[in-house]
Amino acid sequence: MINNELRIGFVGFGEAGYHIAKGLRGRIRAGVLEQGTVNTLIKSGVGERLQQQGLVHHGIELSFSGRRHRINMHELTGGRAITVYGQTEVVKDLIKARLDANAALYFEVTDTSIHDFETHDPRILFRHNGQPHEIHCHFIAGCDGFHGICRPAIIGRLQVFERTYPFGWLGILAESTPPSEELIYCHHERGFALFSMRTPNITRLYIQCAPDDHIANWSDNRIWEELSTRLHAGGDLELKEGPILQKGITPMRSFVVEPMHWGKLFLAGDAAHIVPPTGAKGMNLAVADVRVLSRALATYYQSGQTELLDAYSATCLRRVWRAEYFSWWMTSLLHQFPDATPFHEKLQLAELEYVIHSRAAATALAESYSGLPFDI
Ligand code: DHB
Repeated sequence: MINNELRIGFVGFGEAGYHIAKGLRGRIRAGVLEQGTVNTLIKSGVGERLQQQGLVHHGIELSFSGRRHRINMHELTGGRAITVYGQTEVVKDLIKARLDANAALYFEVTDTSIHDFETHDPRILFRHNGQPHEIHCHFIAGCDGFHGICRPAIIGRLQVFERTYPFGWLGILAESTPPSEELIYCHHERGFALFSMRTPNITRLYIQCAPDDHIANWSDNRIWEELSTRLHAGGDLELKEGPILQKGITPMRSFVVEPMHWGKLFLAGDAAHIVPPTGAKGMNLAVADVRVLSRALATYYQSGQTELLDAYSATCLRRVWRAEYFSWWMTSLLHQFPDATPFHEKLQLAELEYVIHSRAAATALAESYSGLPFDI
């Protein structure tokens, strides 16, 4: 028999939610939303600020061998665009919607653990303000990020696919006009750089660095100089310096577990997979997982059918592996690998030339970057 009362226990919002709720300055996060992600957020009733403040982009630029080339995503994909809107803003909108609905939401919980998710009575235990809490639910959605507790609870049942990269990204958020209206991805002999933005006055910039590098090694001056060199600033582009609001170093890895579901526990987003950030896919994959899960749960509560829940992992993993491939490809194309030979460097440049000269190759990049349709 189906109990029509919806009972889903969410372990989630992760570190980002905590930092926002506390007004803390967390790690800097991604900011590129695919069209499908934007549509999902709007349909879910959390798209108002996104539609007012998001910056819609129809193309990106690739910079290599001292020249820049525009990939016209909009034209190559029959009208798709991406929207620049920070992940922290998305999380703020989700928290507000939850609070406006007077729905339960606990921050700063401790001693969290999940139990009995192989039975019909899964439970989530935690402490809040020192008091023990127990949530009985039908399903547990494990949306608690890469360092959360849900994946470790079933790790013995899972197959892990993993690759770490021999570099990291140093990212800054700065109060200055972005050098270009569109994102610029730079291949440079000193290493990759990315020029992005959050608003017309706030720029978001990244440089490839060593994976074990320390932020203390990077004075503001050194960061601006390195960015300027990798952008070839001074030609038709100007890199305006401004106060650096945040800076941090992020390691790079590819990681997937299979399956993404065990018993009544469903993993979603970074709890199940990580992509290197070069393809801007991390947050988009998380939204796509949750979309698949919410439809499967809605079908179950409406009709008692479990087919979509049973297919959850396989459905999500098709998109996840596509995104893993694309993110690996963009990363391999644009970064300097410490063990690369001159042969490898020539291959990178040959591939970049192909992408800008072949409409087919540019279309492949544009399609993956702007996002696969949601029925895939
Ligand atoms: C941003 C981050 C990315 O990883 C990326 O590929 C593009 C943009 C950003 O933070 O703006």
